[in-house]
Amino acid sequence: MTLSPINRLHVRRFAIASLCFSAAACAPSADGETRPQAGSSPRSATTIATRPAGEGRVYGLGRAASPADIAGFDIDVGPDGAGLPPGQATVQEGLEIYAAKCVVCHGPTGAEGPFDLLTGRLPNDEFPFATDPSVRSTVGNYWPYATTMFDYTRRAMPFDFPGSLTDHEVYAVVGAMLYFNGLVEADAIIDSAAVANVIMPSRDRFVRDDRTGGPEIR
Ligand code: HEC
Repeated sequence: MTLSPINRLHVRRFAIASLCFSAAACAPSADGETRPQAGSSPRSATTIATRPAGEGRVYGLGRAASPADIAGFDIDVGPDGAGLPPGQATVQEGLEIYAAKCVVCHGPTGAEGPFDLLTGRLPNDEFPFATDPSVRSTVGNYWPYATTMFDYTRRAMPFDFPGSLTDHEVYAVVGAMLYFNGLVEADAIIDSAAVANVIMPSRDRFVRDDRTGGPEIR
């Protein structure tokens, strides 16, 4: 990720503040490690910021991450569908899985809550969110890409057991959510192409944030 100039400034300020604090509150010990002195906070950001990141030290803990470990974390899906895993499911399977794993928090058709609304389109698929804060967003009236539904659901839902769904189950419940919003038919088969090809009602309602921190900021 590239830091915007504003963020870079903050990082630099933080680093300078940390160094000053370090000089006052910490002193190098015999082994060269920076340790807090009496009276200073033992968990201050100072110690972390000034210590060379584990350089030259062997703690005998852990092991090198294997390709399988890394693959387990490498689950991001791009808006265009890049990164979607193989697999497919039917909307009908999705409705069953939804009823078992999602309904308690999102309601029978995703429109009832008690938690975030998944279902709901506005007349003419309007997008009044910038001007009317009383309008509640749903997946159907706000999210620009179905691929993001896949990514988010796979990593974050069910809220009380995130990461527990198989890819098959994620395709299935994405299908259910699309069906609730009238975006696929009841007999649809949901796979990577289907998820990437759905045109969400709000797809063209967002603009790329290309600000760089100067007078062009809108
Ligand atoms: C224990 C309650 C609970 C369960 C079960 C649950 N969710 Fe959620 N869900 C939430 C909460 C709470 C949020 C809001 C999380 C946040 O904003 O950080 C949420 C947010 C979402 C969102 C984003 C909505 C938005 O517009 O921001 C989606 C999509 C979603 N859930 C899908 C699902 C699916 C699919 C399932 C079943 C596999 C599921 N959830 C199961 C509680 C739950």
